[in-house]
Amino acid sequence: MTGDRWTDPVNWGVLGVGYLVTQATAAAIHEAPEARLAVAAARGDVERALRVDPVRAVDSYEAVIDDPTIEAVYIALPNDLHFPWILAALEAGKHVLCEKPLTMSAEQARIAFASAEAGGRLLVEATWSRWHPRMQRIVELATSGALGQVTEFHGSFTFDGVPSGNYRLNAAQGGGALFDVGIYPLHALNACLPGVGVSVTEVEYEVNDTGADLTTKANLVLGESTRASVLASFVTPAQQRLRLAGSDLTIDVDDDQAYTSWKQPSTLRVGDHVEDFPAVDAYSLMFSAVSRRVRGEDAWVLPPDSSITVAEWVDGVSAHEVKA
Ligand SMILES: NC(=O)c1ccc[n+]([C@@H]2O[C@H](COP(=O)([O-])OP(=O)(O)OC[C@H]3O[C@@H](n4cnc5c(N)ncnc54)[C@H](OP(=O)(O)O)[C@@H]3O)[C@@H](O)[C@H]2O)c1
Repeated sequence: MTGDRWTDPVNWGVLGVGYLVTQATAAAIHEAPEARLAVAAARGDVERALRVDPVRAVDSYEAVIDDPTIEAVYIALPNDLHFPWILAALEAGKHVLCEKPLTMSAEQARIAFASAEAGGRLLVEATWSRWHPRMQRIVELATSGALGQVTEFHGSFTFDGVPSGNYRLNAAQGGGALFDVGIYPLHALNACLPGVGVSVTEVEYEVNDTGADLTTKANLVLGESTRASVLASFVTPAQQRLRLAGSDLTIDVDDDQAYTSWKQPSTLRVGDHVEDFPAVDAYSLMFSAVSRRVRGEDAWVLPPDSSITVAEWVDGVSAHEVKA
């Protein structure tokens, strides 16, 4: 635990103690001065929940939702469970930070945000890379006009080897590479070209026997002339690229950690020079920002429109006729 504790940190409840929570996000909550890991829930296994050092551990998600001392709920469950638990937490009056992808469809995302708005609660998709200072600089360069007219975007996030039995390989649980890793370049693209209409021009998939995509490659056109390509894969050697070409300047992330730079210094190539960024934990920055917003302070969080638009793009790519 570092940094000055707030006198009144937000009480967080965590649903699910799986890979991400044990490896990164429980520690990120402990690290954020504005947050307290008040309760962690692992189904039927209090001992496992205790391993992430919460104030209290419980063995059901309902026990978190029903706890009147919990102010904000962090959902780190398989993707098909996001929507029902978002609605349950909002109905119980909690603020919600939910892992990406927020929901399984744009329609679900719209319903979830309408519910948050009706209850006066915050709902945020945990696209942690958007809180990284390098990504914020990329977005600033793209949206300020510093690149000139943006002509091309290339984003890829691939790796090789999802363990068998993992929900990522099961379409019914919201598996698939587009949902799991394709969402990162799509969020970057949306942030760099906000409000620009998109058409999906070409899609290639490889799917497994459940219908989950192992690889998705999509080409899109934004506005009149910006060409974008996005590659997501579970069966391709690990690679993370982000390249944005403008009429005046091109920016490139060369370190293969375009979307997951974590606690390491990072760089950004801007034209013919390199910008440096210090090591940060963007998960912790995310919990800090959402906690500040819960307390009514001004802090940047991913806006609903971004989550809904990216969900629409995912719907559009998934529904597109596949190239033979
Ligand atoms: N932002 C990031 O960097 C990042 C990285 C990885 C994953 N994620 C997102 O985080 C979420 C969880 O990913 P993960 O890798 O941590 O997954 P995971 O290791 O499989 O953990 C998921 C947890 O969900 C709970 N769960 C409830 N019902 C389940 C069911 N029917 N089948 C399987 N698990 C069930 C389990 O929690 P208990 O048994 O403890 O209750 C399990 O530990 C996903 O939405 C993913 O997209 C984000």
